[in-house]
Amino acid sequence: MNSLFDVQGKVVLITGASRGIGKEMATAFADAGAIVYGTASRPESISQGHNPAIQMSACDVRDRGMLKDLMLRIKATHGRVDALINNAGITSSSLASQVSDEEMQSLFETNLKGLFSACQVYYSTQKREGCIINISSASAMRAMPGTSFYGSIKAGVIQTTQALAVEWARRNIRVNCISPGFIKTDMNAHLRQNESTAAQIAASIPLGFIGEPADVSGAAVFLVSNAARYITGHNLVIDGGALSRASF
Ligand SMILES: NC(=O)c1ccc[n+]([C@@H]2O[C@H](COP(=O)([O-])OP(=O)(O)OC[C@H]3O[C@@H](n4cnc5c(N)ncnc54)[C@H](OP(=O)(O)O)[C@@H]3O)[C@@H](O)[C@H]2O)c1
Repeated sequence: MNSLFDVQGKVVLITGASRGIGKEMATAFADAGAIVYGTASRPESISQGHNPAIQMSACDVRDRGMLKDLMLRIKATHGRVDALINNAGITSSSLASQVSDEEMQSLFETNLKGLFSACQVYYSTQKREGCIINISSASAMRAMPGTSFYGSIKAGVIQTTQALAVEWARRNIRVNCISPGFIKTDMNAHLRQNESTAAQIAASIPLGFIGEPADVSGAAVFLVSNAARYITGHNLVIDGGALSRASF
C-alpha cells in the first residue's frame, strides 16, 4: 500500500552522513526503505562502523567536480536522484572580533558555496521533479555569542532555499530548509562537556532538553515524502521551542 509518507524506493543523497544529524537521517531513510547514498569529507570518515544499507563515498562539498561525478554515478545507476539533502557543515565559536579570514573562508566554502554548488549540480542532472532539503540552523535567526559568521552563513542558506524554491518550482523541484536548534553531536560536544553549561542550555529550551539527531530525521523523511508535495520554500525549525520563547 502506498502511504502518504512513503519514501520506499526513493533515491536519496545526503551530504555529511558519516556522523551526527546526517548519519541519523541516512539511517531513517534506509529504515523506511529508501535507497540511500551518503558522503563524508574524507575516506577515513567512512572506513568503519557504517550501516551497509547506506552507500558511502568520500566527497568534499567544496569540490564541485566530485559532487558532479557522484550525482552522475547515482543517476546512471537509478535514472534519477529523488532527493538531495545538503547537511554537511562545519562550525566556529569565535567571537565576532576574533573570527579569522581562514574561518570565514572555510565556513563560506563548506556551509554556503558547497551547498549552493550541490544544488546547481542537482538541478543540472535532474530533468524534472526533485526535492532538496538544506540544513540551516536556529543560529540564522537568533544571535548568541560566538555564532556571528556561522549564523550569517546559515541565514544565507535560508535565503538560498527560498530563491531556489521560487526559480525551480516550474520544474517541480521542491526546495525546503530545516533549521535545527541545539542537537547533541560532535559539533557541540565541547559545550556539553561541562555539566552546568549543558544544564543551562537545556533549561533555556522550553521542552527542557537538548535534542538528539533522531529528532531531525522524521522531518526530513516527511519533506521528501508525497505528504509534502505542496511544500516548498519552507524553513522548518526544530529547536524544542527555543526560538518561540520570549527572552524577558
Ligand atoms: N548539532 C547542532 O546542534 C546543529 C544545530 C544547527 C544546525 N546544525 C547543522 O546540521 C548539519 C550537521 O551538523 P552535525 O551537528 O551533525 O555535525 P557533525 O556531527 O560535526 O557532522 C558533520 C558532517 O559534515 C561532514 N562534512 C564537514 N565538512 C565537509 C566537507 N567539506 N565536505 C563533505 N562533508 C563535510 C562531516 O564529514 P567528516 O566526518 O568527514 O568530517 C560530517 O559527516 C550542519 O550543517 C550543521 O551546521 C547542527
